[in-house]
Amino acid sequence: MSSPPPIHGGNVAQEAQRLGCKPNDLLDASASIVPFAIPKDLKSCLKQALHRSPLRDYPDRNYEELRKAIASWHGINPNFVLPGNGAAELFTWAARDAAREGLSGLPSPGFADYKRALRCWHGTYQNEELPLSWPEEFPQPFPITPNTEVLWITNPHNPTGQLWSKQSIIPLVEKYKLVICDEAFLPLAPVGEKQSLIPFTEMCPNLIVIRSLTKLFGIAGLRLGYVVSNEKRLHHWRESRDPWPVNGLAMTAGEMLMKDTAGLQKWLKKVHNWVLQEGSWCQRKFKQIPGITPHPSSTNFFLIESQHSLVSLREELAQRHILLRDCRSFNKLGGNWLRVSLQNRKGNKKIHKAIRGLLT
Ligand SMILES: Cc1ncc(COP(=O)(O)O)c(C=O)c1O
Repeated sequence: MSSPPPIHGGNVAQEAQRLGCKPNDLLDASASIVPFAIPKDLKSCLKQALHRSPLRDYPDRNYEELRKAIASWHGINPNFVLPGNGAAELFTWAARDAAREGLSGLPSPGFADYKRALRCWHGTYQNEELPLSWPEEFPQPFPITPNTEVLWITNPHNPTGQLWSKQSIIPLVEKYKLVICDEAFLPLAPVGEKQSLIPFTEMCPNLIVIRSLTKLFGIAGLRLGYVVSNEKRLHHWRESRDPWPVNGLAMTAGEMLMKDTAGLQKWLKKVHNWVLQEGSWCQRKFKQIPGITPHPSSTNFFLIESQHSLVSLREELAQRHILLRDCRSFNKLGGNWLRVSLQNRKGNKKIHKAIRGLLT
């Protein structure tokens, strides 16, 4: 019996087992993580942490230093910041608030984890369709106004890669009882940060902004994210969470990364240059492959579309140890779409060459 299509990319261990190879043999372009080795300072910080308190002792339950470092980077009050075990853990708590407020509007196709989080609290939701073609210029106006109490926004949007303008989102914050904005990929988008809603969290108690550090630094296995929202709301979340949701190694890594502002600026520049260079290389090269259309993106992944099913192409690529994101689990996309996550030039060339070879 064939298994249902996956609802998440990055199933490297499972795919390696299925394909009879080692996880390291796979080029994983199904999860959108930077392709660089982690920053050198992070590596030495983690090595040192193994011999000291961060591994042996319980982490600071208030995550004081980490909250201060994140707040200082964004120029906000540390009481408005709460670190989490990746953005995914924080969606669970945001969903609890959403379920209490009423019906959630989920832009669709969209990231599946919000539904998982809402189901934890018996929260109700409806899919709100996004147009399936969009221009090349970013940012773009957020195109829908669902008739719901709660609105979930992903900026940039997953899986389309569209960057929404803050001018179009801010008026929406007044309309809804609660707006949850997932900015997991915003720091990776070269012109993303200007569209952040973080500066508005102090004025808007009904706004929750969630960030991830896992994609930006290539630490998805370590797990680290944070939420920026009203102090009172975060106090309630803390009352219900596990006592130590962020482990000592992730906490120490986060402190180091966010305190070193010069290092962070440098890293962001490197990531943005990569997205600009490889994003435009891929758009140019993939446009030349007959039978597929690459869609424009502001960030480190993009969709390709065909008139025909791409399901067997995806499988043939997997047999060649290249993983792309199957889009059948995304509402309205289906088998004619695949999502490609940017790699380094060598990886992008490998993906391009394999697809071209299979389609021509
Ligand atoms: C839009 C979006 N937000 C959040 C996440 C999860 O981030 P984290 O690894 O910090 O839990 C993902 C992971 O794929 C994502 O695509």
